[in-house]
Amino acid sequence: MDTEFKTVYWHNGKVKMIDQTKLPLEEVWIEFDDYRDVAEAIRTMQVRGAPAIGVTAALGIALAASRFESSDTEKLIGYLTEVGDELAATRPTAVNLFWAINRMNDFIRSNRNMDIENLKNAIIKEADSIQSEDVTRNKALGGFGNELIDDGDCILTHCNAGALACAGYGTALGVIRSAWKSGKKIHVFVDETRPLLQGARLTAWELIHEDIPMTLITDNMAGHMMQMGKVQKVVVGADRIAANGDVVNKIGTYTVATMASIHKIPFYVAAPTSTIDIAIDTGEMIPIEERAAEEVLGYKGNNWARDDTSIANPAFDVTPNHLVSAIVTEKGILREPYNESIRDVCREKTTLA
Ligand code: MRU
Repeated sequence: MDTEFKTVYWHNGKVKMIDQTKLPLEEVWIEFDDYRDVAEAIRTMQVRGAPAIGVTAALGIALAASRFESSDTEKLIGYLTEVGDELAATRPTAVNLFWAINRMNDFIRSNRNMDIENLKNAIIKEADSIQSEDVTRNKALGGFGNELIDDGDCILTHCNAGALACAGYGTALGVIRSAWKSGKKIHVFVDETRPLLQGARLTAWELIHEDIPMTLITDNMAGHMMQMGKVQKVVVGADRIAANGDVVNKIGTYTVATMASIHKIPFYVAAPTSTIDIAIDTGEMIPIEERAAEEVLGYKGNNWARDDTSIANPAFDVTPNHLVSAIVTEKGILREPYNESIRDVCREKTTLA
């Protein structure tokens, strides 16, 4: 894997992605020529991570446009609106999904006077731009985040906010990549991240590929590592950030942030501005996805709890803004009071529905 690695992209008229459910044991690339299969790939987490599912949804709309047969532009627009609604129903928490679908819908409507074939090509180009802009944003974000990292730091991260969670490069791992590339001798503690093990399977895979020194730990070891003085910084990604700076990210992030606060370890959130939802005032208003009980009962059908065990499986949690030391975006580093710094950075950003 290099820094130009693409997780999901437009390829020969299809949507191509690496199947993240197969990693790290197999590197399987899959191609889709029906947007319904793209929606299913998001739902089943063959592609996952906030920016990545936004990019995928945009490419799914492009796919649907490219396969549309009538020459009636208004019918195309109506059809793509339904496609967007279907893609939006795949996962509820990460706002990048809705951000990308809204951007595609706005683009399609504002170009409705184009000749239909030109419009279809323009839609594909727009989705492609969402893909490439994501990588550009992450590299910029990584550069800002690098300023927060010191030579010799041990950095703890949770879940996977790497190239695999984006179109490429990564957010939290973008910061780590930038620090490593700038010559800082860092070490990364990777939380395995139950129940779906995005840390163990995906973050470890990315770091090993780039020879960035790392140690995998189970989630319940993080507090101990902090208490032992082994962690100097925490950097995580986000699925949605409210206007007041509350952060929704993978389940377990709140626990890590709380432990970091107790041990006076800076807790940084790295996310593009497309992850900020200024229409949502506080974190508790953000919908938290509840996933299938099987994910907690065991892994891939190997169960270690009885089938009739009562299960809760919230996929995300809310870290209140007072536990967040800074939010690293592609436009710079945001600090408290977040209401103000977020409002300023979002001034030119489209408000989300
Ligand atoms: O359920 P997932 O794997 O989609 O959750 C992913 C996360 O929580 C990531 O930390 C978040 O999307 C940030 S990705 C840059």
